[in-house]
Amino acid sequence: MRFEPLHESFGARVFDFDCRNCGDAALALTLKKALSDWQVLLFRGQDLTDAEFVAFCRLFGELEILPEPEKRHPAHPEIFNLSNVRPDGSLTPNDDPQAVFLRGTSRWHTDSSFRHVPCLATILYALDVPPEGGDTEFANMIAAFESLDPTELEALSRRAAVHSYAYSRSANPGRLPPLSAEELAKVPDTVHPVLRRLPDGRHSVFLGGHVSHLEGEDVASSRHQVRELETRLTTIGNVYRHRWQRKDLLLWDNRSTLHRLTGYQIDKYRRVMRRCTVAGTTGVEPVDKELWG
Ligand code: OGA
Ligand code: MN
Repeated sequence: MRFEPLHESFGARVFDFDCRNCGDAALALTLKKALSDWQVLLFRGQDLTDAEFVAFCRLFGELEILPEPEKRHPAHPEIFNLSNVRPDGSLTPNDDPQAVFLRGTSRWHTDSSFRHVPCLATILYALDVPPEGGDTEFANMIAAFESLDPTELEALSRRAAVHSYAYSRSANPGRLPPLSAEELAKVPDTVHPVLRRLPDGRHSVFLGGHVSHLEGEDVASSRHQVRELETRLTTIGNVYRHRWQRKDLLLWDNRSTLHRLTGYQIDKYRRVMRRCTVAGTTGVEPVDKELWG
């Protein structure tokens, strides 16, 4: 296995590795360490059946089963069909709820941050990619943390953000029906520290599109402040833009990156991804207060 950087501050393409090789515990450890070190890993030219894809993803930990049964792969409930192609082969019309959902991923976000224990990683395997558009951008949030000046660092180390699925769904660029009371009860708002300590001792800024506002502050003004901060922290030369090829398998660490889909013509070009999500194991750890007294 050999690594070559994708971007000057993070991300690596992995050479000389076939993802059908699900090896042993030592291999799983090597891959998990590479993911937390590099934050984004790309494997190109992978030929995987659905079962082989799931087996590879399991090396990284337990896989989440996402709530929407209609988006699950019929034979492999761990696989989420991230696709604009309907079962009859036709493309999703632009006003279809699935198209609205897909466009929703074009806001900077980190997956399932609205959960008490957010996921660890997301893995996409490209079966069909559009000839133009539909890239995915990743922002290095460890570099974002490192760009904060001491005053801001100190102020943010005392802040927590309210992550809300109901909010992010309502902020989707499109119209989705509001959640029922029963659905809402399954995804209550969660509070996480804005600055996060990672298991390897590094730190990241943990924000993104599920953040509604800062805890204990005025909703409208702190929401505005969060969006401004996100914009700044994703425009400091810390973004890798991935142009997909068929048979790419790409995974990212949701603890230390934000990501977003760049637009494509959903009703014109096929974009079919298999997705698995690796569950987190611990809640979001705050930074050590001693770091800045
Ligand atoms: C996701 C997501 C982006 C993409 O599946 O969580 O944000 O490029 N996908 O499809
Ligand atoms: Mn996502």
